[in-house]
Amino acid sequence: MKVTIIGAGNVGASCTEYIAIKNFADEVVLLDIKEGFAEGKAMDLMQTSSLNGFDSTITGTTGDYSKTAGSDIAVITSGIPRKPGMTREELIGINAGIVKEVSENLIKHSPDVVLIIVSNPMDTMTYLAAKATGLPKNRIIGLGGALDSARFKYRLAEAMDCPSSEIGAMVIGGHSDTGMVPLIEKATRNSVPVAEFLSAEKLQEVVESTKVGGATLTKLLGTSAWYAPGAAVSEMVKAIALDSKKMFPCSVLLEGEYGLNDICIGAPVILGKNGIVKVLEIELSDAEKEKLTSSAEAVRKTNGLLAEILK
Ligand code: LAC
Repeated sequence: MKVTIIGAGNVGASCTEYIAIKNFADEVVLLDIKEGFAEGKAMDLMQTSSLNGFDSTITGTTGDYSKTAGSDIAVITSGIPRKPGMTREELIGINAGIVKEVSENLIKHSPDVVLIIVSNPMDTMTYLAAKATGLPKNRIIGLGGALDSARFKYRLAEAMDCPSSEIGAMVIGGHSDTGMVPLIEKATRNSVPVAEFLSAEKLQEVVESTKVGGATLTKLLGTSAWYAPGAAVSEMVKAIALDSKKMFPCSVLLEGEYGLNDICIGAPVILGKNGIVKVLEIELSDAEKEKLTSSAEAVRKTNGLLAEILK
């Protein structure tokens, strides 16, 4: 199993570290355009192998895509992260060109790769990668819901003062401050609906703090977060590598599911060998459907900005 991570910045490095520690990949290649940066991160991480007990080999390269050849899975984290006060959508001008070039370079050397897109605005970057590469929809997956659901579980566990391992909860829709759809009506603590533990007001607070989870961290850190994004990616990569058929909400090209077409947006999927094994169409309440539809309208508006680059 060979995994490539494009971008050795905070998210790329964190993702590489979690993948290494989980010890399921034979080889991890880290690529960055900054001279020596990926090589340095790779060497530093390799020096933790005897301490953290992993056998994966991590190597770094400055922009040499031939080193990524034959990758089974590649994660694109390149581009600029947002600064405090910025929305993810404001990054499109710079990141679209980078994501297009990177995804085209990757598939030249790894035609069978499964691509995971992290760069923001993520749903639009996933759509761009799908259009630019022409890869089948099962092999283009955006990181959004896996991260947002982890943040949702954290907020629910905090509100109920319980371990997050007791929580079952999912966020679908666009990966944006306004577009996320935390499925609060379906969230449970050990199979018991969370409404049995929390007031309507508290539930609403949890939903709102989940939606601005990334923005809250960006304000505190001065740049966007990396531990939870890196861990979320590593879980998706692991599910694909081990063909575990785990369920994650991911950004995926929809073809009629939830009444949506020709758009990449967060929906529950099964991940396994070859990427998306299945898109699940779960029953949504009218309120959830309405929120997903308006989230899709916002993503479509951002996708409209790709017209020039997709010519
Ligand atoms: C975040 C970035 C990865 O939500 O979009 O932290």
